[in-house]
Amino acid sequence: MLILKKGRFKTIKQVSMNKIGIFFGTDTGSTRLVAEKIYNALGEGIADQPKNVNQTRVSEFLLYDAYILGLPSYGIGDLPGIQTGCMEANWAEFLYKLDDVDLTGRRAALFGLGNQQRYADRFASSMIKLYHQVYGLGADIVGSWSTEGYQFIHSDAVVDGRFVGLALDHRNQSHLTDERVNTWLAEVTPRLLPDTAAAA
Ligand SMILES: Cc1cc2nc3c(=O)[nH]c(=O)nc-3n(C[C@H](O)[C@H](O)[C@H](O)COP(=O)(O)O)c2cc1C
Repeated sequence: MLILKKGRFKTIKQVSMNKIGIFFGTDTGSTRLVAEKIYNALGEGIADQPKNVNQTRVSEFLLYDAYILGLPSYGIGDLPGIQTGCMEANWAEFLYKLDDVDLTGRRAALFGLGNQQRYADRFASSMIKLYHQVYGLGADIVGSWSTEGYQFIHSDAVVDGRFVGLALDHRNQSHLTDERVNTWLAEVTPRLLPDTAAAA
């Protein structure tokens, strides 16, 4: 493993797997379910098995140049974690470990779960926190998503009229989840893996 010091950042570069790394946090299992749907839709030739961030080492995370990252919304638009009432470690506990990592040149697409009826004033808002963190580490973020078909009052995750990633409400609109996932994947996969057959 080659470790380069670049400014205050540490770049740990291993041989890229040229696959998409799917990472998620979850409290009650829905985000895991969607991560598995995404994996099954992409297939093992394009993505690796989804990993819960509470069982992920930084070195495993850094194996990839392309990511699909999923999270539920908890708290008031916070990153999900123990402080937002989650029972298990989640993105809040994982991201601080990436503090001095440089993701420049890597690409990420986000998906966020929420409940647009019960939390209409902050639907899927946690997604914006993950967006800012991953963008702040240097990654390019792809895969914004239309707000059409949802009913909510406000979401921090809407920027310039679009969600910064795929928003899903698996509690109230589970019948739309598969279609949304497949449509989104058709858009984002070529942008995540531009140099492979997946982009053809
Ligand atoms: C205590 C609590 C707080 C929540 N806060 C929000 C919220 O702020 N915004 C939102 O859209 N959904 C919120 N939700 C809904 C969850 O994000 C949603 O049920 C999600 O699918 C859970 O994913 P998980 O099963 O992977 O943990 C909340 C749910 C609970 C139980």
